Amino acid sequence: MFVLALRFEPALLSTSAAHRTALVSLGVAAAAAFFVCAMVAARLLRSRRALARSEARFRATFDQAAVGMAHVDLDGHWLHLNQRYCDLLGYSIEELQKLTFQAVTHPADVEADVALAGRLAAGEIPTYSMEKQYIRKDGRLVWVEIAVSLVRRPTGEPDHFITLATDVTERRAAQDALRHERDFTAAILDTIGALVVVFDREGRIVRWNRACERLTKYAFDEVAGAAFWERLLAPEEREAVKEVFLRIVDAQEHADGYENHWVGKDGARHCIAWSSTALVDDRGRLEHVIGTGIDVTDKRRAEAQRARLYQEAQDAIRLRDEFLSIASHELKTPLTPIGLQVSQILRALRKDPASIPPEKLLPRLEIVRRQVERLGALVTDLLDISSITAGRLRVELTEVDLSAVARDVALRLGYEAARAGCRIDVRAQAPLPGRWDRARLDQIVTNLLANAIKYGAGKPIDLVVEGDETTARLVVRDRGIGIAPEHQARIFDRFERAVSNQHYGGFGLGLWIVKHILDALGGTIRVASEPGSGATFTVELPRRPDERAQMAA
Ligand SMILES: Nc1ncnc2c1ncn2[C@@H]1O[C@H](COP(=O)(O)OP(=O)(O)O)[C@@H](O)[C@H]1O
Ligand SMILES: [Mg+2]
Repeated sequence: MFVLALRFEPALLSTSAAHRTALVSLGVAAAAAFFVCAMVAARLLRSRRALARSEARFRATFDQAAVGMAHVDLDGHWLHLNQRYCDLLGYSIEELQKLTFQAVTHPADVEADVALAGRLAAGEIPTYSMEKQYIRKDGRLVWVEIAVSLVRRPTGEPDHFITLATDVTERRAAQDALRHERDFTAAILDTIGALVVVFDREGRIVRWNRACERLTKYAFDEVAGAAFWERLLAPEEREAVKEVFLRIVDAQEHADGYENHWVGKDGARHCIAWSSTALVDDRGRLEHVIGTGIDVTDKRRAEAQRARLYQEAQDAIRLRDEFLSIASHELKTPLTPIGLQVSQILRALRKDPASIPPEKLLPRLEIVRRQVERLGALVTDLLDISSITAGRLRVELTEVDLSAVARDVALRLGYEAARAGCRIDVRAQAPLPGRWDRARLDQIVTNLLANAIKYGAGKPIDLVVEGDETTARLVVRDRGIGIAPEHQARIFDRFERAVSNQHYGGFGLGLWIVKHILDALGGTIRVASEPGSGATFTVELPRRPDERAQMAA
């Protein structure tokens, strides 16, 4: 522009007025142009300075950044690195510029890093970051977290990577220490046999140890976050235990000696004794409750068993004492009339043998015979106790007619029945033979009939024998005091009676012995009764018990 303006100057001196006017306007234009040019030049200069300043600022940022920054070409060669990056790796920038990132990356991390860089260059991912280890020049390993992005050329081609690297060795070490501590604690918790459960304030399960898994058969995931009373407690205890738990939370206190029942996934019930401690945070707020539990199921079961055995032993002792007093009384009762009759007969005979003719002697001796029989039956019962208890009750099978046995017994007990005011109606289909033990059949009928007489309130008694090809049935029915439903099962047990000893004599052994004889013969007995309207005992016997036994064998 200057050159142009100077070249016009001589001409300007030698022109006419019209030309001069034109030249003046030209000069103004030139001046204006010059002014514009100057302004543009000034702005250019300013922007170049601004550029330089921003570049300097950028360089300063790059060099003084708190993290490592580097440019890396697509093959992994370091292009630029800031001082931080060089410090991280322990190399000088010149040394690094001769190396690739692969060369200083731990071999275990190279593959993953290269793969991610490849995907970034291919445009599959916008950026990536990872934790990895570098091998420093001095051979030490350093953990870094890198964040990598890609710079493209204006044409869109990938040009180079920008990598930011932060030293996370300390953080990793702290994490490792924490993990180690956690694993250590978990290992301790898992090896102890006691149950350890961590609950939150609402009773939800936050953690538990392996013993809990073993006991409940639930995996932790199945119970995590669930309130323990809903998931694990026996339903009938839920409300009460929930209340106790919430009280512990409220009072933030230690609680001992609670027992409750957990029901496992397999339905098994466990009795657990707990001790709980509230765990508070720095501000004194309750954070967790730690429950330590011991499975006391076996212990409690054993205690209950011991208590039961003790009770049974006590009952047995009481029964034995009662039995001894009853037995002595029962054994003495027949002795009184025997003694009386014998001494009267003796006295009479000594005085004058003729004073007691046979027709007077006979009924007296009859009394003696009956009482001796009664004594004999009592002694048999007593002997049966020991053989049954020792499991030695033997039966000798021969051909026996049950109808005949029933009729015999009815006849024999006729006197007692008459004395009690009972009529015995015998309906015995004749004959009903089977292979049984005669004396034992006699014992069965005698016991049932004697009971019917004793408890029959002087009303008629039915004695029925019937049967078919395989089974014989004996029914003894009275119309006496009957047996309340709650006693009907236990009267077949030893010494068990449903009447008072004051009103009715007896050992409480008859039905027990009958039942055992029937067991030996393969038979059964049952009772049907309503208090006040009598009792019906029904005995069923296989007619050939030995054949049945053979078939079963
Ligand atoms: N026919 C019956 N009617 C009412 N109660 C009966 C009858 N038979 C047995 N019992 C009840 O069963 C109990 C047990 O009978 P049992 O074993 O023969 O012993 P005992 O006759 O010596 O008491 C009796 O004490 C009585 O309470
Ligand atoms: Mg009896």
